[in-house]
Amino acid sequence: MTAQATPANEMTKAILPDSALPTHWYNLAADFPEPLPPHLHPGTRKPLKPEEMEPIFASGLVEQEFSTDRWIEIPEPIREIYRLWRPAPLARARRLEKELGTSARIYYKNESVSPIGSHKPNTSVAQAYYNKLDGISNLTTETGAGQWGASLSFAAGFFGLGVEVWQVRASYDSKPYRRMLMEVYGGSVHPSPSNLTEAGRAMLEKDPDTPGSLGMAVSEAIEVAVKGDNSRYALGSVLNHVMLHQTIIGQEAAAQLAMFGESGPDVVVGCAGGGSNLAGLTFPFIGHSLTGSVLDDGGRSSSPTDRSGTRRDPSEFLRDGAPRIVAAEPAKCPSLTEGEYRYDHGDVAGLTPLLKMHTLGQDFVPDPIHAGGLRYHAMAPMVSHAVELGLMETTTVEQEDAFAAGVRFARCEGTVPAPESNHAIAAACVEAEKHKGEPGTGPVILIGLSGNGFLDLPAYSQFL
Ligand SMILES: Cc1ncc(COP(=O)(O)O)c(C=O)c1O
Repeated sequence: MTAQATPANEMTKAILPDSALPTHWYNLAADFPEPLPPHLHPGTRKPLKPEEMEPIFASGLVEQEFSTDRWIEIPEPIREIYRLWRPAPLARARRLEKELGTSARIYYKNESVSPIGSHKPNTSVAQAYYNKLDGISNLTTETGAGQWGASLSFAAGFFGLGVEVWQVRASYDSKPYRRMLMEVYGGSVHPSPSNLTEAGRAMLEKDPDTPGSLGMAVSEAIEVAVKGDNSRYALGSVLNHVMLHQTIIGQEAAAQLAMFGESGPDVVVGCAGGGSNLAGLTFPFIGHSLTGSVLDDGGRSSSPTDRSGTRRDPSEFLRDGAPRIVAAEPAKCPSLTEGEYRYDHGDVAGLTPLLKMHTLGQDFVPDPIHAGGLRYHAMAPMVSHAVELGLMETTTVEQEDAFAAGVRFARCEGTVPAPESNHAIAAACVEAEKHKGEPGTGPVILIGLSGNGFLDLPAYSQFL
C-alpha cells in the first residue's frame, strides 16, 4: 500500500527533516530602513568599540553584536546540538479555533519541545560555543524563571564550561524545580540579590526583602565575570547577538506555513520580556516584508539594502501583504508600551553598556508576577528600534487574562504553555475573536509558543 500524503487542509503539524535546519542566522540589522542606534560606552557615552565589550563577552559574540551582515553561518558544532530537538514543529490550533468560534487559521511555533522546554537553548548553545573557542572556562549569568539559567547550564556542559547563575529571588523561592534542573546540568545557583557580590550587598542594604529583578541579577553576574579568572558573562536576551541566534525560529516557521499551503501569516504574535523569542519568530518575516527576499534567499545575499534617508512612514518601506507583528507584554511590566525610548543600562548597577531601548528605568522593580521571564525593565534595542520604525505593534496583557488563555490553550491543544507564552496566546485570542464566520476562511495568525509550563504548575494552581 502506498502511503497517502495528508492534504494540507487536514494537516495538524508540520515537521521539517533535520536537513531543513537553517544553515544561517538572519540579521535584521542589515535591512532596517534606518540604522540601529549604536551602544554607548557607559563612561564616555561615545559609541562603544568592539574591544570594549570583550572583557565581558566572547569575541565571536562581540563580532555578531556589531555585525550588519545579513546572513551569518551557523557553525556545524552548534547545528549538531540544535538537531537534538530542531527543527521544532509548527502546529495548527484547530481545537482552539473551534473553541474561539473564529474564522482565523491559528498556528503556533512550538519552542517548548527543546530539552529545557523553551527557545532559550537556541542562543545558549551558540554562546557556549563561542566562549569555548576563546578558551574561556567559566560562564556567569542571571535568570528569572530559570529557563535561561537551565539553558546555559545545559549548553555549557556540552562544551565543558562551568556555569554560575544568579536567579531572581522571587523565582528562586517559587520555582525550586528550575534550580534543580540547573544543578542537574552542572550549574551552580545563587538567589539574587546575594551577599556574594558588591552589587548584591548594596541592593540588600537598601531593601533586605527585595524580590529581586533581572536588572539586579545581571549586575551580580557581570561583576563576578569581570573579576573572575577566565570567566565571561552570558546574557539570555536583549543584545543583538541573542536576537540573531533566535532567528532560526521564524525561518523554520515560514517554511512550515508553506507546508500547510499558506503564503504567510497575516498577524504574528509573540510575548516580549527582553525581546528574544519575539525577535526570533518575527525578524525573518519583517526582513522579508522590507526586502522581499529574506524567506527565499537561498543565495544568502549579503548586500545590505539602502539604509540612507530619514525616518519614514512604515507603509513606505513595507511591501504589500506584510504581516502585522504584535509584541505582547505584561501589564505590570510594560516597557515597550509605556517605557521611554532612550539610552539606559541593562542592569541596576550600571555595569552594562548604554543601550537605546524602551525602558521603565534601570531601578524599576516589577511586581513578582508569575511570568518571571517578562520581568525586565527594558526591551532589546533591535525590538525597540522596530517598534519606533512602526514595524511592530505593542499590547499589554493582565496576568489573569494570560493564565485564562493558557488554561484554554492547554485544554484545547494539550501543551501547558509557559506563563510568559500565555501573554502571546491571550493577545492572539483577542485578534482571533475579531474574526467570526466560516471556519478557516479568516486571517492566518501565528503565535510564538516560547515554552511550556511544566515547572510553573504551582502558578497555574493559584489561578485555577
Ligand atoms: C518561556 C519564556 N518565554 C519568554 C521569555 C522572555 O524572554 P524573551 O523576551 O527574551 O524571549 C522567557 C524568559 O525567560 C521564557 O522563559
